[in-house]
Amino acid sequence: MKRIIYPALCVLLIPAVVAGCARPPLPRYETDLTLRVLAARVPAYPEVNFAVMTDPHGYDPQLGTDGQAFDHYAAGSYMLSKDSAEILQTAIGQIKHANAGFVLVPGDLTDHGDRASHELVAQYLQQLQAGGKKVYVIPGNHDIDSAGAVRYAGNLALRIRNITAAEFSQIYAGFGYSDALYSDPASLSYVAEPQPGLWLLALDSCRYRGKVGEEETLIGGRFSPQTLGWIEDRLIGAAKANKAVIAMVHHPVVEHFEGQAGEFPEFVIENYPAVSRLLAAYNVRLVLTGHFHAQDITEKTWPDTGKFLFDVETGSLATYPCPLRVINIGGSQKAAVRTLRLPSIASHPQDFPAYARAQLESGVTENATGIITIYGVAGPEAQNLAAQVARAAVAHLAGDEKLPAGQPAIQENGLSLPAWIGVQFKKGLVDSLWRDLPPPDNDVTLDLRTGGWQ
Ligand SMILES: [Fe+2]
Ligand SMILES: [Fe+2]
Repeated sequence: MKRIIYPALCVLLIPAVVAGCARPPLPRYETDLTLRVLAARVPAYPEVNFAVMTDPHGYDPQLGTDGQAFDHYAAGSYMLSKDSAEILQTAIGQIKHANAGFVLVPGDLTDHGDRASHELVAQYLQQLQAGGKKVYVIPGNHDIDSAGAVRYAGNLALRIRNITAAEFSQIYAGFGYSDALYSDPASLSYVAEPQPGLWLLALDSCRYRGKVGEEETLIGGRFSPQTLGWIEDRLIGAAKANKAVIAMVHHPVVEHFEGQAGEFPEFVIENYPAVSRLLAAYNVRLVLTGHFHAQDITEKTWPDTGKFLFDVETGSLATYPCPLRVINIGGSQKAAVRTLRLPSIASHPQDFPAYARAQLESGVTENATGIITIYGVAGPEAQNLAAQVARAAVAHLAGDEKLPAGQPAIQENGLSLPAWIGVQFKKGLVDSLWRDLPPPDNDVTLDLRTGGWQ
């Protein structure tokens, strides 16, 4: 069974593979002066409060939570799949009491993409709506036509039915699809107006369309030319109607550390420079993303146009540190971003953060050790290098990462020759994971008028 491999697992030694990128058609904005004039007027964001939780990777425990096959899956995972239902319940309890009028969930609603898990997640989200908080979802790469839809029985992982795009929009009809203002005929993207004056551009970047069979799940994201055209149409419509726009999309639209697109092209949307420039051109200044399971906010600016946007990537609810965000935009156009972390779940009343961290560390360490071993490094030396990779991964996923003064990202003293050679290839990447791009990641106030922060 092919499983999704998550970000930090190949940090150290996998060669970089840059995906071939077809250039999309030039946005009309670039050549049409009237659109530039239109977009020169920046609609003010209304005062609004909302929450973001993403990548819950919901997993129906009835698919199995023990046995050799499940244990094998869990050992290589960074996530708390077995606990995802409890985590969702706890997060929903927190959001119910948060100062948030609506909730965004940008994808990877389930882990295996099976129908039972989707229905379970929908039931949890319905609790929020029953409490008066409207929920908006879009799919992530785990959700539609998933190759990972299995149940576990002893040492077997048995294929079960996944869901189609049409089924996704049915199961989540009440979470954005049934009352969308506009729907993209070419994807599951839509526009909603969660509050008067604010449009939510909910964008489906997943690559289930045109996939051959069900033998692989495509991790990377992209917009088709049709969807890109639809996005620009909607942005023009928003500008004409004087609506402020936020966007949510599973795949980030900017790099969240230097070199990310080269090392992990599937974790930044294809043609990300053009996609982010298009959104920013029409004054989308907040983009809510997930996918990399990291708490990371990165700003991109375009000096030639004076435009900017903040890509607010939120960590996975099911991956340490199990965060969610509450964002309050005030009348002064300042967006106060606050991070909440789950202190406990019912089955882990005392040790939940440590338990979640141990799962992330063991998943990264196991995967990294396996890769290091391929390069002829073994034993304690391989474990030691893997532990340093895990340390960087944990720091990056938690956000506001900063390498302690005087410490290297990778300790090179005393390495064997194969290990030293491998480290020369990848130490820049591990170092980059430690170097946070501005602004801060967890608690920060973003100025949506100027692009500054405090
Ligand atoms: Fe995810
Ligand atoms: Fe994802």
